[in-house]
Amino acid sequence: MQKLGTTLSSFIIDEQRKLGNKASGEFTGLLNDITIACKGIANLVNMGDLADVLGATESENSMGDVQKKMDLIANDLFIDALENNGHCAGMASEELDEVLTLPDGKPRGNYLVTFDPLDGSSNMDINMDVGAIFSVLKAPKGKENPTAEDFAKPGTEQVAAGYCLYGPSSMMVLTTGTGVNGFTLCTSIGEFILTHPDMKIPEETAEFAINASNQRFWEPAVQEYIADCIQGEEGKLGKRYNMRWVAAMVGEIHRILCRGGVFLYPIDERNRDVGGKLRLLYEGNPMAMIVEQAGGAADTGYGRIMEVQPNGDPHQRVPVIMGSKNEVEKILSYHKS
Ligand code: F6P
Repeated sequence: MQKLGTTLSSFIIDEQRKLGNKASGEFTGLLNDITIACKGIANLVNMGDLADVLGATESENSMGDVQKKMDLIANDLFIDALENNGHCAGMASEELDEVLTLPDGKPRGNYLVTFDPLDGSSNMDINMDVGAIFSVLKAPKGKENPTAEDFAKPGTEQVAAGYCLYGPSSMMVLTTGTGVNGFTLCTSIGEFILTHPDMKIPEETAEFAINASNQRFWEPAVQEYIADCIQGEEGKLGKRYNMRWVAAMVGEIHRILCRGGVFLYPIDERNRDVGGKLRLLYEGNPMAMIVEQAGGAADTGYGRIMEVQPNGDPHQRVPVIMGSKNEVEKILSYHKS
């Protein structure tokens, strides 16, 4: 007999069922909203130039990055999916200067969602990997319009995190704090199907990902670690390393979930004052939760990413070192010494 497999919706409902009476179905509804946004984005990304979604706009986001057409479209699709169904109380997005509250009259839910609707968007025009990253937090009780302070919670308080990778196939990877599961989008039936249950990151690796063109700006610990990797068998680390750079964090983390590795976007001389390059609330924290839930480690070089206390800026930055546990620990030993 042919089988459809486990769809993402039935997986989420099943998880909810395990919670018995405690679950109202709202969280399931929220994850379904996010899934619908991701399916909408996957469809357009997949069409590419045929859907007229390539190229840049004239605007910049809060971080001064030129916004691509698809950045704005993906952002709109997330907002549209989240603001109408009464599961979400507020949003923070890479593409919005301030946190977004819901229009008057829309039902408020019990969750806050932060997202980067199209991570790695400079890859759009060259038909390479892009993705969406999201994090779910509890909304403050009884507050009609949550403020930036309500989003300022450490990553340890996330109730779910995930990403959707738009690569050769589209994949949703999700954690609700009990492991990590991966679902592949079947475009014929329009459903994400469970294909990668209980994903685990191998503890050992010999593969690193870092933008090596920034080498002269890195802090000494990272300089030394990468120099030792490049030395290969003759160096202190005693093995030959491989390097990869997708230029989209979603792609790097997905590779690491599939076969191990480490991804570094460390603090460097150019971004020291602002605290790094990647954003804490919608890049660092959700990816750290996924990586830790898959048995990996995620650190700034000076402490666990998920324990960084947010400062109230929704676009706060953070240095990132994450991936295979033993390799991350090795990198941290360079920081300590
Ligand atoms: O905004 C973040 C991001 O696009 C990440 O997804 C990616 O890892 C990084 O920036 C790429 O940076 P660079 O421009 O240094 O290659």
